[in-house]
Amino acid sequence: MADEELLDYEEEEQPQEPQGQNGTKAKKDIKGTYVSIHSSGFKDFLLKPELLRAIMDCGFEHPSEVQHECIPQAILSMDVICQAKSGMGKTAVFVLATLQQLESVDGQVSVLVMCHTRELAFQISKEYERFCKYMPTVKVGVFFGGVGIKKDEETLKKNCPHIVVGTPGRVLALARAGTLNLKHIKHFVLDECDKMLEQLDMRADVQEIFKMTPHDKQVMMFSATLSKEIRPVCKKFMQDPMEVYVDDETKLTLHGLRQHYVKLTESEKNKKLLDLLDALEFNQVVIFVKSVQRCMALAQLLVEQNFPAIAIHRTMPQEERLSRYQQFKNFQKRILVATNLFGRGMDIERVNIVFNYDMPEDSDTYLHRVARAGRFGTKGLAITFVSDENDVRILNQIQERFVVNITELPDEIDISTYIESK
Ligand SMILES: Nc1ncnc2c1ncn2[C@@H]1O[C@H](COP(=O)(O)OP(=O)(O)OP(=O)(O)O)[C@@H](O)[C@H]1O
Ligand SMILES: [Mg+2]
Repeated sequence: MADEELLDYEEEEQPQEPQGQNGTKAKKDIKGTYVSIHSSGFKDFLLKPELLRAIMDCGFEHPSEVQHECIPQAILSMDVICQAKSGMGKTAVFVLATLQQLESVDGQVSVLVMCHTRELAFQISKEYERFCKYMPTVKVGVFFGGVGIKKDEETLKKNCPHIVVGTPGRVLALARAGTLNLKHIKHFVLDECDKMLEQLDMRADVQEIFKMTPHDKQVMMFSATLSKEIRPVCKKFMQDPMEVYVDDETKLTLHGLRQHYVKLTESEKNKKLLDLLDALEFNQVVIFVKSVQRCMALAQLLVEQNFPAIAIHRTMPQEERLSRYQQFKNFQKRILVATNLFGRGMDIERVNIVFNYDMPEDSDTYLHRVARAGRFGTKGLAITFVSDENDVRILNQIQERFVVNITELPDEIDISTYIESK
């Protein structure tokens, strides 16, 4: 089977000596508990002063639980596979850990981060820029498909970054062409790793890229969802990793998030959505739909009704996608109509309401989508439209799996329960 072949590539490799500075790579299996009990600060991680300064500028006061668990091991170059709930700062784990360890050599790429969408790659590259603000010599490059490859090649030739963030297709194209040299990679990171490795074409690209990197390197992988099936696939890339899982799935529920459903027919969806957008208080809203066509049509309808809406989906030119993402991020637009393209990893601070105009196809997708509201423990509201038997079935699966009670949307909702008072 093709699938098994893909899994076999590193089978005979011998475990290597740990790279960590003090001692062995002790195996650790931590179960997530998501009560914040840590009052210690980022100072305790003994990070470089220039990183600590940047962290302070970001307004981060205390590390989140996942940061507390993973950063100390990750900065010792241990391999890490990490599941932690959405919006709790997984990005900063790998951004800080790699910047802390970075010994930048001009002309050499030493950190490679890959993820499943172009907008997420862009977002991650911005996080690197934010945290390396006081490391003026560090250069970050972001490479993804849909835009001309020439510019990427020129960047790599004339101004080679130390850190590369990208999507697998473009990274592979650049590596195959020889313009991106992966021989000096010391840190290999996959964000949304389950998504990247479940899709066989993307997995094949990731593996080909992985094989071009040196054997001796740190590998880190992150997601809010890591099924028991995908974990061994991830671990094939690693050597005795520290494993952080959330086996009790009820702990993946975001506590600041109110979750409701509305039962209605397909033809009632538009009217209901418009009524709710009028009635609810929102800073920013993401409305998820199931197809590109529906995405375009719904955005158009909202604009015609004078709502400040914008659509984002995979069939628009990449420049346009990125520009729309930025308009939304910069609060120039308040409503984003999106497909699953925007369902994972995207971090827009002011989003406090998510609509599932169309029911997501499975409970993982639901979990990722609704977490676009209620980032980092803030309040939010998720409203899911349920219009047929299949929708009901998926809603029930979500409730059973996460032991969350998604109730019918009441006529009145107290604003203070879904919007931060600032
Ligand atoms: N220690 C911290 N203190 C305050 N804010 C933080 C801290 N760590 C991260 N954040 C902020 O929390 C938000 C969510 O972080 P991030 O996007 O890394 O979450 P995530 O765990 O990757 O979520 P997802 O699973 O949805 O990708 C970001 O806006 C980030 O800047
Ligand atoms: Mg993330």
